[in-house]
Amino acid sequence: MTERNFVIIGHRAHTAADWKLDDLCGGAGRLDVLVRCVTASLWKSHGIRKETNVWLILNGPPNAPITVHFSGEKIRYLNPDERSTAALIRNGLIKYKNQNDALETSPGITMERIGLEDVLMKLPNPVLLSETGKDNIGNSATFILGDDKDPTESEMKVLDNLPKINLGNESLLSSACITLIHHRLDGN
Ligand SMILES: C[S@@+](CC[C@H](N)C(=O)[O-])C[C@H]1O[C@@H](n2cnc3c(N)ncnc32)[C@H](O)[C@@H]1O
Repeated sequence: MTERNFVIIGHRAHTAADWKLDDLCGGAGRLDVLVRCVTASLWKSHGIRKETNVWLILNGPPNAPITVHFSGEKIRYLNPDERSTAALIRNGLIKYKNQNDALETSPGITMERIGLEDVLMKLPNPVLLSETGKDNIGNSATFILGDDKDPTESEMKVLDNLPKINLGNESLLSSACITLIHHRLDGN
């Protein structure tokens, strides 16, 4: 099966472990949205989608950006619940504090001080999922999404040349968009 990549832009997601696991929506800067995207990307009913990678771009305070890469092939200790996925990110941010080079903070999770532009350079055929998109999905393998907000104007400068894919008339949760993309690519 072809590799799939999901890139989610976390506009306010904190880049230090200065939040509590009980406060993912508030203190962590809507990290709840991002960890739901990890679950939707990587979990099947009884196992992990090994061909899928998730890239969470943390663009919140105090030291943005940090990108967290989850490799479906290498991931270990991932559970389907939001809290334990958030705990993997929190523990990773503690380990990554004061580091400059990329670091595998736990098996299959790597943190790196790069943002959207650098992430896109690593990935094949990127497309933006957009409520106003008009392009065809084609043979896309890399899907970029906003969190609870669409990409900002400055992010759109990086994304403007990409094909834009619409998934219907309703504005959906990012995690729901990921499930729809898997459904479309899995086939019948
Ligand atoms: C919750 S929506 C953003 C909500 C809204 N546009 C706003 O800024 O308040 C999060 C992301 O999911 C994707 N998305 C949501 N609905 C979509 C649709 N109908 N077609 C394609 N992508 C969609 C987009 O990438 C969007 O940035």
